[in-house]
Amino acid sequence: MSEERKATLTIDGKTFDFPILKGVHGNDVIDIRTLGAKTGCFTYDAGFMSTASCQSSITFIDGEKGELLYCGYPIEQLADKCNFLEVAYLLRNRELPNADQKAKFEGTIRKHTLVHDQLTRFYNGFRRDAHPMAVIVGVVGALSAFYHHGMDYSNVEHRDICFQRIIAKLPTIIALAYRYNTGLPFMYPRNDLDYASNFMYMMFGVPSEEYKINPILSRALDIIFTLHADHEQNASTSTVRLAGSSEANPFACVASGISCLWGPAHGGANEACLNMLEEIGDVSRVGEYIKRAKDKNDSFKLMGFGHRIYKNFDPRSKLMGKVCADVLAELGLENNRLFKLAKALEKIALEDDYFVEKKLYPNVDFYSGIVQKALGIPTTMFTCVFALARTAGWLAQWEEMITDPDYKIGRPRQLYIGAARRNVPDIGKR
Ligand code: CMC
Repeated sequence: MSEERKATLTIDGKTFDFPILKGVHGNDVIDIRTLGAKTGCFTYDAGFMSTASCQSSITFIDGEKGELLYCGYPIEQLADKCNFLEVAYLLRNRELPNADQKAKFEGTIRKHTLVHDQLTRFYNGFRRDAHPMAVIVGVVGALSAFYHHGMDYSNVEHRDICFQRIIAKLPTIIALAYRYNTGLPFMYPRNDLDYASNFMYMMFGVPSEEYKINPILSRALDIIFTLHADHEQNASTSTVRLAGSSEANPFACVASGISCLWGPAHGGANEACLNMLEEIGDVSRVGEYIKRAKDKNDSFKLMGFGHRIYKNFDPRSKLMGKVCADVLAELGLENNRLFKLAKALEKIALEDDYFVEKKLYPNVDFYSGIVQKALGIPTTMFTCVFALARTAGWLAQWEEMITDPDYKIGRPRQLYIGAARRNVPDIGKR
């Protein structure tokens, strides 16, 4: 990054210069790290609307163009030419694997899919009807109790093992949550299957009969994983970075990311979107819900619409729409009621002045729920699938942070607006 340009700030007649840093793509940033020391002022930027919290070489989004790059590669090409494990390798190593590296990495992941048998007992502590996101927050956090002693995350080999363990075990952990919830017997992973097929097998197989893999459906699920694998400094990734900045155990950090992802404004939108489509129920009621979404006095938002960064379209949504059509065709569900409803809703919203002016477009979650439902994944598990995929990005970002020589514990400042200093009155005078 060059530091040739400067931004000058004037406060009470005094001027202060700050370097302007230039990235490979995207907005320049004003380096204000010395602002507090030089001026005695902090910046105020609730929701990080204008703040770069780190430098990163992993993912880049051009919100105006609707472009998403992982390590420079367009998401469309990755979704077309690579599988999720190649993408996970890319995020961590910043380069795609060659044939040998791919075979070795996939082989290692296959060999780490089992979880410690003791971990399976955790599930019994949960209510059967517990939300699976709550269950996986607990179980993934509990991995830190299994893998903590003797781990030195300044050692690249230890970070390697951590990455392999979590990528390999997450499908097993999520499938176990589903099996516990439904009362079905736990299915051990099958190391002869590819990553997505193994997840489908652990979710839907039964010990009493052979489970037939449908390669088209497995491939669709694998693309869903790729589309969700990373997304710059979004809320959950920033949560993982902040938690990890205190040198906390990475499994515990991933659990914090899962907690953040759960919210309906973030990864929980896929579940919320499907629930919304069910509630709307019929194309004839779309107008009523569009009206509600535009009403300032109504808290209702069109789930699966809008994004902080994308202001033209979300490229993941386009790909997801195509995956959705392919999966429905494979299953003979082209006339699926919710898909038709989603199409109608999308068309009407995209032509509506409110959505056009505010640049609100379908995001990745708009179609992902329909695809997942068609695959047989229950609505409450949708965000778990998102978490499974995003774990690759979270750990790549965590590692990037802790290996950055400039890294410091995350510690934002604040604008205090509470009571001014005062003395505690005696109890009788309060
Ligand atoms: N329906 C109706 N109005 C909306 C919507 C929506 N889905 N999204 C934003 N707006 C309005 C919002 O009310 C605001 O209006 P005004 O300017 O009059 O106050 C304006 O558009 C700007 O919205 P914002 O909430 O200030 O924008 P943001 O960047 O803070 O929020 C968002 C982005 C994704 C949280 C928001 O668009 C939203 O809540 N969408 C629905 C939930 C959703 O689909 N989330 C998934 C995001 S993509 C998956 C992921 O990466 O997690």
